[in-house]
Amino acid sequence: MTDNISFNSDEFNSTPLSRVPCNKELAADIFVKIGDKFIKFKEKGDVISEEKYNYFISMNVKELYIAKSQIVLFEDSVETQKQEEINIVVAEVGEENRRIVELQADLKEAVYEVFLDEELSNETVNILKNQVEQFIAVVKDKNPSADIFAKISSMNNTIAEHSMNVANLSILFGMVTGQTHKIVLENLYMGALFHDYGKAKIPAAIMDKPKSVAYTKAITDHPLVGVEMLKKNPEISKQVLSIVAEHHEQFGGVGFPKGLTGDAIYNLSKIVAIANVFDNVCMENRNKATMYKTAIKVLEYDKGKQFDPQLLPRILDAVKLGYGNYQRERGGKAPAS
Ligand SMILES: [Fe+2]
Repeated sequence: MTDNISFNSDEFNSTPLSRVPCNKELAADIFVKIGDKFIKFKEKGDVISEEKYNYFISMNVKELYIAKSQIVLFEDSVETQKQEEINIVVAEVGEENRRIVELQADLKEAVYEVFLDEELSNETVNILKNQVEQFIAVVKDKNPSADIFAKISSMNNTIAEHSMNVANLSILFGMVTGQTHKIVLENLYMGALFHDYGKAKIPAAIMDKPKSVAYTKAITDHPLVGVEMLKKNPEISKQVLSIVAEHHEQFGGVGFPKGLTGDAIYNLSKIVAIANVFDNVCMENRNKATMYKTAIKVLEYDKGKQFDPQLLPRILDAVKLGYGNYQRERGGKAPAS
């Protein structure tokens, strides 16, 4: 067993947070680095809860540390767990959809890179774009039904993965409302992945005080803050920026930040807005058997107010079909940490 505290950086290898499993038994002792000190955070066999994992994300903790003596064991176990998770989902969605599930798992790692990067580099965005292009190509080819989207989204548990759920839902909603063009679907997916980029960059000190004036201002500003950060990157398209800017606008005109009305809102932004509300309700009701039914009710209630009444009927048909009877608990039970 490794000591609980060490100052010797030669003893450790760093590993990206996305490689460290959440809610699963750890195959190695996990250390955090504070200053020049490596402090044992979890023992081999322990579990990192969703709550702790989300805390790391909010604190921009990019890397955790593992003793060099345990790294091979750890890497082997991560690969085995990844394959096991893929196999579980493939068993539900069918072998013909294995590629979709594998690409979703790869995309998850690229999404973490993007969200935990302090400065968004062209290289990370290009890796993500490449993954999205491959994913959209397979989705267009296979044209999966709504329940497949429900099942692949069950792989996503943490805050960073909420954006993947919104992206998957947006593609489903886009396709059922007549969007078929490859580039449009890629922009839709990228816009959904980045919709809360500005929110993810709000400092934890502000997020921890939800009743403060600073918090309200940060939330109101996050769509346009996200655009300002993203537009510096030439790989991010104008369509993606519009989605980020408008994902909280509402059809009835009472959204933010601009209070746009009806068709003044870009069509892809309207789709992401619906997907975002749907997944937010699911996240709030996680681990309840009725979470999808509650989310469907919220969409029905808001027809014509928050959401475009032209788009909503076909989207509701799709989610009722795919998610309405889908009872799987997403993420399982989070053990106490
Ligand atoms: Fe948002």
